[in-house]
Amino acid sequence: MPRVIVVGSANVDFVVQTPHIPRPGETVLGHSFVMAMGGKGANQAVGAARLGADVLFVARVGMDIFGDQCVQTYRAEGIDTRYITRDPEEATGVALIAVAADGENSITVASGANMRLLPEHVEAAQEAFSQADALVMPLEVPLDTVMTAARIARAHGVKVVLNPAPARTLPRELLQAVDVLTPNRIELAQLAGIAEQDILNLTDEQLGQILLGLGVNEGIVTLGAEGALVIDRHRTVRIPAFRVQAVDTTAAGDAFNAGLAVALGQGSDLQQAARYASACGALAATKMGAQPSLPTADEVAAFLAQH
Ligand code: RIB
Repeated sequence: MPRVIVVGSANVDFVVQTPHIPRPGETVLGHSFVMAMGGKGANQAVGAARLGADVLFVARVGMDIFGDQCVQTYRAEGIDTRYITRDPEEATGVALIAVAADGENSITVASGANMRLLPEHVEAAQEAFSQADALVMPLEVPLDTVMTAARIARAHGVKVVLNPAPARTLPRELLQAVDVLTPNRIELAQLAGIAEQDILNLTDEQLGQILLGLGVNEGIVTLGAEGALVIDRHRTVRIPAFRVQAVDTTAAGDAFNAGLAVALGQGSDLQQAARYASACGALAATKMGAQPSLPTADEVAAFLAQH
């Protein structure tokens, strides 16, 4: 069983299904509403746990009822919550999510306690890194915290997977501490300082060179329905996407990163791990909600056997 550490955000998601994502100033009459557990970090932690990994989650939530629910949910998933701390002033993170009929979404996050997850909270969990196989992190907590976790992981020989979401620029020092970087096309554009419309016309090889130019040795650029590019110093290989009926793409990227960390932690090579991760992402897109949609190891195995 691979041992995976996740350092990242925990949110409660308020999800409304809508015919289309509202434009600025527009009111849209949606239909169903669900409240579901979310947060990119928590989704990756729950995703990895459902895939059979031994997961330790380092996070920060408020002292409110949502914080209680988050911690209870993670415990019920078998996640080690020893290093989840509670902030006496800030509320648990929440996300307002609109999901359109085609499965696309728009997400607004009120980070709350997530932005009070500090380097010292990661340092407190240092002993756990000596036993871990992989560290996976998104970017919804302070950058110093992400940097500290990457540095500690590196010192212990733990594979570092960085999912640069939400999109932003990153210091070279952090990128050099990463083993596998997993941006989507827009995140790659942001990281490389390229206009979004310019990155759309680039070839797979050019995207590969841009990723390597950031200072990482390996990475995967996720392209949604167009598949993913698996990139190392020698080549860029496109793996096709699995075709599914997308209901809600929320957390599909988190499921991908969870699957990647678990597969890498189990010793798969990057291409095998990317295929496994793609199956996790595809399955997550077939169900509503973030954590409710994350697949189990058995579901992924059955899906891969059929495809
Ligand atoms: O990646 C999806 C997640 O982004 C949601 O669960 C939401 O909470 C935001 O963090």
